[in-house]
Amino acid sequence: MTTCRICATSIAPFIDFGEMPIGNAFVARADFDTEYFYRMRVAVCGTCATLQVIDVPDPDRMFHDHYAYFASTSAFMSRHFQELAKDLEGRYLSKESPFVVEIGSNDGITLQYFANAGIPHLGVDPSSNVAAAARAKGVKTLIDFFNERTAQRIVDEHGKADVLIATNTMHHIEDINSVAAGAATLLKPSGIMVQEDPYLGDMIEKTAYDQLYAEHMYIWSVNSLGNAFGRHGLEIFDVEKNDFHGGCMRYFLCHAGTCAPTRRLEAQREKEKKLGLAEPKTYETFRRACETSRERLVELLRRLKRDGKRVAGYGATAKSATIINYCGLGPDDIKFISDTTPIKQGKFSPGAHIPVVTPDQFHEEHPDYAVLFAWNHLAEIDAKEQAFRRNGGKWIIPVRMVEVL
Ligand code: TMP
Ligand code: ZN
Repeated sequence: MTTCRICATSIAPFIDFGEMPIGNAFVARADFDTEYFYRMRVAVCGTCATLQVIDVPDPDRMFHDHYAYFASTSAFMSRHFQELAKDLEGRYLSKESPFVVEIGSNDGITLQYFANAGIPHLGVDPSSNVAAAARAKGVKTLIDFFNERTAQRIVDEHGKADVLIATNTMHHIEDINSVAAGAATLLKPSGIMVQEDPYLGDMIEKTAYDQLYAEHMYIWSVNSLGNAFGRHGLEIFDVEKNDFHGGCMRYFLCHAGTCAPTRRLEAQREKEKKLGLAEPKTYETFRRACETSRERLVELLRRLKRDGKRVAGYGATAKSATIINYCGLGPDDIKFISDTTPIKQGKFSPGAHIPVVTPDQFHEEHPDYAVLFAWNHLAEIDAKEQAFRRNGGKWIIPVRMVEVL
């Protein structure tokens, strides 16, 4: 029997994506034979409403000394998190003993702001290579997983925090109960926690099933996140929607009863009810939409191949692994994938082994079509790929029932 990781209710999958590699595990040719796969099935808990990937790989397999995701590769993203930092400093940092902690601080994209301003801060991240990049920018970083034990250690060594940040992190962590308990330990009585993650409502509305992969083992909603953290004495008091990563929700939490819920929060809860996010039939509809999206992408790529068109991929994202493997695509369908991240270049996409190349190679090859796996960065990428567009290059958006732009 399978049980919910948050509340231990028994759960059953509503969709099975088949055998999946780890989304960020770009492979060298020499390691093809030892690649790790797991069965990706997804369920929604009938009690706490948490959407979760049922079986996930051991965290040490995902977050390690050669983690391939560096948050600061996107200029838009850097600006977005610098703005968040500035806002938090203005609204929530105490004057007497300011202290900011970030869970999953990656390469220091957000904490850099506090480091530059000389504000006491600490990042926590288990992947030593991204943590080294943060330290090189002057961002203090503890290389570890955040949990109850780490939280207590931080309190003992540095005191409690005004602000706890966790962006694009809370979907990565299997033991949310330990994180939530740790957050409650770490926050001052007046402290706040801010989280930001891909939002369940967007995933459903956009048929963006590529949000799901091993590292994205939860896709949160106001309802489910409130339930998970509510078990540990924290509550959501405000939310803010944005379009990053294809649609994210920012959640503000505090110790229960210390903050007044905003009208925005109430409105979002109403929207979730209308969207049916806690109802099983919503997920049946979503499953059928995923299947239709897969058929359409496979058909389109088959037709383009018949017509002699050259198709590449753009953005060797972790989420591309879900699309490529669920749709059964390979180097015959997509010749190569262009990506700016040096650690990915020269390697092969997980599972399907499509070569990852540099943007220079992408420009030299001038393909006719590019599957935009980084579809969430469309505006930024389209703006800088005007030469590709002028040559008649077209983007294929692999979500939202597949679109050609
Ligand atoms: P993300 O969608 O998870 O942020 O991942 C973006 C990936 O796409 C990352 O591997 C970097 C890559 N990328 C490019 O190759 N070119 C670009 O212009 C951008 C914005 C991202
Ligand atoms: Zn549950």
